[in-house]
Amino acid sequence: MAEPALVRFETENGIGIITVDNPPVNALSPGVPQGIVEALDKGNADPSVTAMVLIGAGRSFIAGADIRQFGRGPAAAPPTRRHYDVLDQSAKPVVAAIHGYALGGGLETALACHYRIAVPSAKVGLPEVLIGILPGAGGTQRLPRLIGPKAALEMITSGRHVPAEEAQKLGIIDEVVPEGDLKGAAIAFARKIADQKPLPVIRNRDEKLSEGTPELFEGTRKAIARRARNQRAPYACIEAVEAACRLPFDDGCALERKLFDEQVGSDEAKALRYAFFAEREVAKIPFIPADTKLRPTDNPAVIGAGTMGGGIAMSFADYGFDVKITDATKEALDRGISRIRANYETSVKRGSLAPDEMERRFARIHPVDSLDDIKDCDVVIEAAFEQIPVKEEIFKKLDAIMKPGALLYSNTSGIDIDLMANMTKRPQDVAGTHFFAPANVMKLFEVVKGTKSAPDVLATAMALGRKIGKVSGLAGNGDGFLANRSRAPFGMEINILIEEGALPEQIDKVMVDFGYPIGPLAVSDLSGLDIGYDTRKRRAEQYPNYRKQPIADRIVEMGRLGQKTGAGWYRYEPGDRTPHPDPEVTRIIRETAAELGIPQHEFSDDEILRRLLFASVNEACKILEEGAALRASDIDVMWLHGFGFPRYRGGLMYWADTIGVREVYNQIAGWHQRYGERWRPSDLLRRLAESGSPLHEAKAARPMP
Ligand code: 3HC
Repeated sequence: MAEPALVRFETENGIGIITVDNPPVNALSPGVPQGIVEALDKGNADPSVTAMVLIGAGRSFIAGADIRQFGRGPAAAPPTRRHYDVLDQSAKPVVAAIHGYALGGGLETALACHYRIAVPSAKVGLPEVLIGILPGAGGTQRLPRLIGPKAALEMITSGRHVPAEEAQKLGIIDEVVPEGDLKGAAIAFARKIADQKPLPVIRNRDEKLSEGTPELFEGTRKAIARRARNQRAPYACIEAVEAACRLPFDDGCALERKLFDEQVGSDEAKALRYAFFAEREVAKIPFIPADTKLRPTDNPAVIGAGTMGGGIAMSFADYGFDVKITDATKEALDRGISRIRANYETSVKRGSLAPDEMERRFARIHPVDSLDDIKDCDVVIEAAFEQIPVKEEIFKKLDAIMKPGALLYSNTSGIDIDLMANMTKRPQDVAGTHFFAPANVMKLFEVVKGTKSAPDVLATAMALGRKIGKVSGLAGNGDGFLANRSRAPFGMEINILIEEGALPEQIDKVMVDFGYPIGPLAVSDLSGLDIGYDTRKRRAEQYPNYRKQPIADRIVEMGRLGQKTGAGWYRYEPGDRTPHPDPEVTRIIRETAAELGIPQHEFSDDEILRRLLFASVNEACKILEEGAALRASDIDVMWLHGFGFPRYRGGLMYWADTIGVREVYNQIAGWHQRYGERWRPSDLLRRLAESGSPLHEAKAARPMP
């Protein structure tokens, strides 16, 4: 059977319709640009055709170049006629009819058309910077000509998706048409402009380019300096837009292309492409069919109005859900509701939330007095105290009152999901849904599989996370689940390095230079050191061999709980969150180390980085060995969205591969000899090193229990 055509051409009453049909997102894969060129030639050659419409089949216009083709070497033969050039040289007008997404090369295609119309739900953007490149098909040259360099710079350096109505205000879209019959509207529009002469061709416009002053470009470079640290793509974007303002169109395009070619094979672009695909892969659970029927989740409830419960309720409200929330006492519930309101008010004060939107969101959160008031809900997320008897009690009660089929999820960060499941007569309906603090901000949503969790209960949890703007990933039900367990050795190693003579400010500087937005010790000060202290005490009681952290304990016992007490690993001036290195902390470190007889060393930055991250790489391998993670790339996604790992380094395991699996293994094996058991290399790591297989491609060594 013949392959279905990627691009179709048909005529309807004198209008040529070019339909791109390359599911799922109409990427410009090989064959698509050529198909567009052929269709344009047909339309231009057909005397009955007066104008043409370019439209996408399925759910989108065109989502851009085919990212999977990048890095595969040059295409067999570069096209002699690029569809962008053929479009804007077309003698007959072409209207781009946009629904879904017009991104990257997709928007660049639309910009080469003479007109653009879109439905209100459509989004346009040049998101190339998010995958470490810059628009490479004239986007940096056409967009500034159309909407001015300032607005173009903002769109191109942020990569954001711009909704149709805003795009119309900016001047990208000529007309927003009602949803429903885009093709009909496009044909009507095409008829309207069929006889127009001369045709509006963006490459010929330069009246807005004088806005591109040196101050604009310098200002943009300064403004992005923090978030663009260690990256080149955002600066290449600026350079290309700057070229649009000073060079003729064709020369600007040539420079853009040169920068694109330099950038597309860079380490930054490779890592960001990997992160893009890893984020799509993490949604797939191999042992659950993709067409599993999901359970309803329209009517959620949260148990516990503490910091986590409140943040979870806000996550639902922020994404349009009406959510019920309850707590053990009226006082606790009232306190929780006040805290939610205060959190929203802070966002309003910062300017990130409009006051009327705040009221809409707040009104979706419904406090209720008791568990009986939530019995008809589709889904419950329990976020009560992290104490086993409390959880057991709640799950017993939920089992007694909830309607059949209701989803019973727990936000525990460490308690065995099976303990809760076994309190019910419906353990198949129970799973973990672990949010990260602050729950309404952090994107990671760890779905924890209990031994008996039903496939649809897990699939629904994964989908629910996505519905509230999170990145869902599956974890096994072991101690610390997946994300926190993989990070625990990093935290432990920080404390050991400090005992051995590294100072908090040195460790934080290494990690910030590496790309974290803020150092790990400054983060601890921000969240409060008492949390870790309590966890350590509990763990020491639970596990006789638990490695104590005497310096961290001493800091807390001196009343230094972090920012909230004006001192922690750093000292703080009143009303200021800047961490200042504190000689007092240095003294505590040195004294404690001397008491314990721990020899002091100087550490190089590289040694610090490797000690912290390799400790977690080894643990991640153990997690894969036990089947508590499905794929190494899932661990990477969790580090990106749970712990602020720099995205342009791909993720923990991807980064380790940039050093080399053998070197990582040899280093860990050496440290095992030197420092003992905590560095015992995982068997999986050893096997990968022996075969030279990349860490980031590793899969679970056994099925998830
Ligand atoms: N190339 C190849 N595959 C792509 C793709 C692309 N540009 N965009 C999406 N896909 C694939 C995804 O990998 C996924 O595949 P899978 O089903 O096998 O996992 C499938 O299409 C569906 O994608 P999503 O799951 O992401 O679908 P959503 O509906 O959630 O999101 C989207 C749609 C917003 C279009 C999102 O996929 C996206 O952001 N895509 C990338 C857009 C982009 O970066 N475009 C610029 C490309 S670079 C470029 O154009 C260079 C040019 O300047 C020359």
